[in-house]
Amino acid sequence: MIPVNQPLLNGREKELLIECIDSGWISSDGPFISEFERKFADFIGVKHGVAVCNGTAALEAGLFAAGIVEGDEIIMPAFTIISCALAAVRLGAIPVLVDAEPDTWNMDVTQIEKRVTPKTRAIMPVHIYGHPVDMDPVLEIAERHNLIVIEDAAEVHGAEYKGRKCGSLGQLSSWSFYANKIITTGEGGMILTSDSRMAERAASYRNLCFRPERRFYHTELGQNFRMTNLQAAIGVAQMDRVEELIKRKRQIGSLYREKLARIPGIKFQIEKSWAKHVYWMYCIELDETLKMDAKTMMEELYKKGIGTRPFFLGLHEQPALQRLGYFADENYPVTYRISRSGLYLPSGLTLNEEQIDQVVSALQEVIEANSK
Ligand SMILES: Cc1ncc(COP(=O)(O)O)c(C=O)c1O
Repeated sequence: MIPVNQPLLNGREKELLIECIDSGWISSDGPFISEFERKFADFIGVKHGVAVCNGTAALEAGLFAAGIVEGDEIIMPAFTIISCALAAVRLGAIPVLVDAEPDTWNMDVTQIEKRVTPKTRAIMPVHIYGHPVDMDPVLEIAERHNLIVIEDAAEVHGAEYKGRKCGSLGQLSSWSFYANKIITTGEGGMILTSDSRMAERAASYRNLCFRPERRFYHTELGQNFRMTNLQAAIGVAQMDRVEELIKRKRQIGSLYREKLARIPGIKFQIEKSWAKHVYWMYCIELDETLKMDAKTMMEELYKKGIGTRPFFLGLHEQPALQRLGYFADENYPVTYRISRSGLYLPSGLTLNEEQIDQVVSALQEVIEANSK
């Protein structure tokens, strides 16, 4: 079986974990937390990093840090993971959706402005599958309407928009270090910001909103979203070779692109002239000519020993959110289509060219068998 992902942990990860155990620093108080925060914030080019337990928590802490409260509206893509909507809903805020655009599957920035109302407080662009959102229009609309921009950068470690790193463009960004992410800590997340007040608020939220002047006295409702020193130790080791990991992802991306180009009916994200794509996952869309949905393709590839994952299902199609009264009668046709025609292929950092050839041949065989 070629797995859809496999982390690469053969640097200092084991050595630094042993250091945690030998020193007894296994909770969130250990020294690797601030080292990881510093290294990751410096890499992206912002002033502060606040490490948390996962990317979903990072989104929620980020929105809290931005001052989002009950009744506020947050504009986000329909095509994303539920974490984005959950972060809003947990704070009593309202997710407001825009559709994806067909080339990069990122939020269609031309649809944002018509969703702005007097209650809108933030825009949450989500850089999808390694490719940046077209950020200039997002920043321009945000400036004109005085909105916060919180980038969900979980899938774009090292990606760039017009030469600037994703995650440094809005006032805040949110990151995941889950095992399939380019930099991983197993489970983990971070909020980045250059605003000291927002960084303080995110750090307070992650730690139950303890008040610095009086412990066990709380004026706001926080969460325990702390990262452990063990996780941060892995993160520090991963940062030793962040550039190498990104380079490898881009190599995998260009090999796939080259080899898939000869298969008709397969569409993929094309790197825009203003983007540095990091190919977090190599994703494909099956076009109508193939007369096959992603689910069938995934089942057939599985039979041939190829691990895959489906695309996100649109937020507007999530029963858990519909039950709260959201998105009744709303349609997002591009999201609807790609959530049924899209899948991602094995993309782990350990993948070699021979395995990529196997994946591409398997895809070709499935398509040929289906067309008979
Ligand atoms: C775009 C995006 N945002 C948020 C998350 C949530 O991160 P986590 O799984 O660490 O909670 C993910 C997870 O994969 C993601 O892809």
